[in-house]
Amino acid sequence: MITNHTVVAAAHPNLALVKYWGQADINLNLPNNTSISVNLSGATTTTAVTFEDELESDRVTLNGENADLHTYNRVMTHLDRIRTLAGGTKRARVESYNDFPAAAGIASSASAYAALTLAATRAAGLNLDIRELSTLARKGSGSACRSIPDGFVEWIPGQDSDSSYAKSLLSCDYWDLCIITVYFGDCEKEVSSLEGHRAATSSSFYHTRLYELPRTLQAVRAALRTRYFPTLGMAVEREAISMHTIAMTSTMVEHPWLSGIYYWQPETLHVMKAVQKWRHNGLQVYFTLDAGSSVHLLCEAQNLHVVMRELSPLLDKLGGTTLISKPGRGAWVLDKTHSASPPWIHRVKYS
Ligand code: PMV
Repeated sequence: MITNHTVVAAAHPNLALVKYWGQADINLNLPNNTSISVNLSGATTTTAVTFEDELESDRVTLNGENADLHTYNRVMTHLDRIRTLAGGTKRARVESYNDFPAAAGIASSASAYAALTLAATRAAGLNLDIRELSTLARKGSGSACRSIPDGFVEWIPGQDSDSSYAKSLLSCDYWDLCIITVYFGDCEKEVSSLEGHRAATSSSFYHTRLYELPRTLQAVRAALRTRYFPTLGMAVEREAISMHTIAMTSTMVEHPWLSGIYYWQPETLHVMKAVQKWRHNGLQVYFTLDAGSSVHLLCEAQNLHVVMRELSPLLDKLGGTTLISKPGRGAWVLDKTHSASPPWIHRVKYS
């Protein structure tokens, strides 16, 4: 039965080590390929959900502001999925907060739909397991399925909606890695990842990427299991370039004046080249890139201070900012049941 309790849940965004790029089903967010990610402990979305008898429509706020219409409709559609599962019609009040800046280029929709799925299903009186939560979160936003399980996570593409979900490969404390997200202010991207997914198969290199992926996946899984950083780093860096090769060589139907998608900015390339130079000088650090201008640097925790020492002068020159993460836990319910008064958000401990 749908309760009238407020349930507060939190989730970290995730960073793909092997990217999801290209969809088999646009409506169900089914991917064309297996992907592997790590949750980012340095960023958290916290979401409170209360189903209320008195509400005539859902109420959705993000960082204290009313959601824009597009976001509102997406959240409402997701709440409808949960109402259907729970067999009720009560409208919900949703308050969601991110403790990380939108400009960081970290996909907040992943943590947002993971936290929303967990909070709303519990508030609706459902007690879903991790696979069910992951499957449901995926319908809200594809890569959100990877923010439900703990630590290092693999998304199994599946053949239909029920068989497409993510599971934990290794727990967040299995390997003390650091992920340094380097971002450069508001570099608004011209092409959304949604359009990138849609355009991917138009690249003549797409099939080559799919052909190479099983080997990459195997290398990444083995390097994670054995904690062998050079193999992990090189596989992850090459994989990011492979994804961007597809983006750069895709045919842009919705942006016909573009010859392909270039998510990089000049600053992005500066950091990429610097990472390779530091490596040449013996420092074990690698990069990966998502659909944006931010660069994510990977290193083992014992090398963090050396990487930061190299990075700092470059950031001063380029005007970049960093956000540092470790592998993060899966989505979790905050242990207090709150009455839905906004100040609670400032009192909750994030992890
Ligand atoms: O979840 P989406 O639709 O924003 O797609 C994510 C795309 C990448 O971040 C580039 C890769 C990934 O696997 O997260």
